[in-house]
Amino acid sequence: MLAAAAFAPTAGNREAWDVVIVSDEGQLEALGDAAGNQHQIPDSGCAFVVCANYVRSMSRYGERGILYGVQDATIITTYLMLAAHALQLHTCWVGQFDEEEVKETLDLPKHIRPVAILVVGRGMPPESRPERMDPDEHVHYDVW
Ligand SMILES: Cc1cc2nc3c(=O)[nH]c(=O)nc-3n(C[C@H](O)[C@H](O)[C@H](O)COP(=O)(O)O)c2cc1C
Repeated sequence: MLAAAAFAPTAGNREAWDVVIVSDEGQLEALGDAAGNQHQIPDSGCAFVVCANYVRSMSRYGERGILYGVQDATIITTYLMLAAHALQLHTCWVGQFDEEEVKETLDLPKHIRPVAILVVGRGMPPESRPERMDPDEHVHYDVW
């Protein structure tokens, strides 16, 4: 999964992402708590906490680097999901969490922002897919 993520594009090739791979039971429990008791985190056995590394992005891009750091981390999370799928693993993207609690739990330095918790495991595949809007509702041509 990490080998696949390393091929992702990043802004200016700054690779402004880092990941904390969590498998310790107590740490997974703490992450679950920080995410408002989302039980899939401790249930999974493994979570990838994907972070933006603002030193790498902001040292070149200044304020714009805040956006690039988040984009880099987001792309990496998506690559990790695709790689997990290829390995017949299941994932759940968890974005709802208390950032400060996650930072404290993982002892993250100040310049590291947790962007997504990717829960990885061998869960049950969903019985049905949630409905999606019609793509036309998202698309605009030439102007909004
Ligand atoms: C930015 C983002 C944040 C999300 N946060 C959560 C979350 O905190 N907990 C959760 O169970 N799912 C979360 N999800 C998963 C979505 O709920 C899920 O992708 C959506 O309902 C569509 O379902 P599907 O991915 O099975 O098609 C998140 C997804 C994204 C992209």
